[in-house]
Amino acid sequence: MADLSTSYLGLKLRNPIIAASSGLTNSVDDIKEFEQNGAGAVVLKSIFEEEIRRELEKNLGDMQMDTFTYPETMDYYDNYAEDDTLTNYLRLIREAKQVVNIPIIASINCVTADKWPYYAETLQDAGADALELNVFVMPSDFEKTSDENEKVYFDIVKEVKKLVKIPVSLKISYYSSSLGSFIQKLSKTEVDGLVLFNRFYSPDIDINKLDLLSTNVTSTPLELPISLRWIGIMYNRVECDLAASTGIHDGTAIVKQVLAGANVVQIASAFYKNGKGIIKDMLNDLSTWMDSKGFKSLADFRGKMSNEKAKNPAAYERMQFMKYFSGKGL
Ligand SMILES: Cc1cc2nc3c(=O)[nH]c(=O)nc-3n(C[C@H](O)[C@H](O)[C@H](O)COP(=O)(O)O)c2cc1C
Repeated sequence: MADLSTSYLGLKLRNPIIAASSGLTNSVDDIKEFEQNGAGAVVLKSIFEEEIRRELEKNLGDMQMDTFTYPETMDYYDNYAEDDTLTNYLRLIREAKQVVNIPIIASINCVTADKWPYYAETLQDAGADALELNVFVMPSDFEKTSDENEKVYFDIVKEVKKLVKIPVSLKISYYSSSLGSFIQKLSKTEVDGLVLFNRFYSPDIDINKLDLLSTNVTSTPLELPISLRWIGIMYNRVECDLAASTGIHDGTAIVKQVLAGANVVQIASAFYKNGKGIIKDMLNDLSTWMDSKGFKSLADFRGKMSNEKAKNPAAYERMQFMKYFSGKGL
């Protein structure tokens, strides 16, 4: 029987499937179900930096929004945010730690390194096994250079690492002007892991109502190649663990991500679409494939098809459909 165990952020996981941060990881019951169905770890739904600063500023008796806040965050405050959001988050960590044995990774969504990092220590004290920082700076500010945009990520890691001893990972997007070098530089900070990549609401246009919409909340398997490409390119070129996320919907996709070089995979959409029970099928497919190839552990094939080791490494970097230009058929 193949050994599916792996290590991620210095934590021992029974297998590489992590329930990614989403609305499905926001309650003790859901977390228990993930464990019962076989998940290796759970990343909690993110708490937002703005929620932490809001609480802090409320406690100081004066809410000053002196740093940039996304419009949707203000909308969230007006409509959904509860005053005890932070307390509830800490309670979720404490209660989850009492009832499950798999690692619990807390998650903070942040866009600055300003004021909020103290809260990372509170999450650690509540029992979180690790902390995932979900960072996204939309590079659409015409006044900012790419260095200025990227500096935020380094500042955040530095500030948080000053305060916590638990492992810290960074979940990033592929919106960077020199992504390979950016990922490599991030891996050389004190960060313990990088999650490639987060996924965002995408814009769409309703041509009848002439309205802007958000679409594609969940992913499809067609989105797998984006993270597969970058896991494959970055394997052995980073100094931290790699988690693959986006478009992983079955055991085959997990095999591919480990072959490309991932330590673990993070999955959300497949659980929304097919339920948590799909984990058992994924694990079964993974171990059946390993048995068929004679691989006894994930380490036996991790990175075997990476950019560095594959027989045809150019496939990771070639973007143009050269051979399809000459004819009409596919
Ligand atoms: C409904 C929904 C809510 C999500 N909420 C969060 C979140 O709070 N924090 C976060 O880092 N990622 C969040 N994500 C992103 C997922 O963690 C995951 O990285 C992304 O969906 C790509 O994986 P997938 O293709 O398996 O869905 C969310 C995704 C979905 C679909």
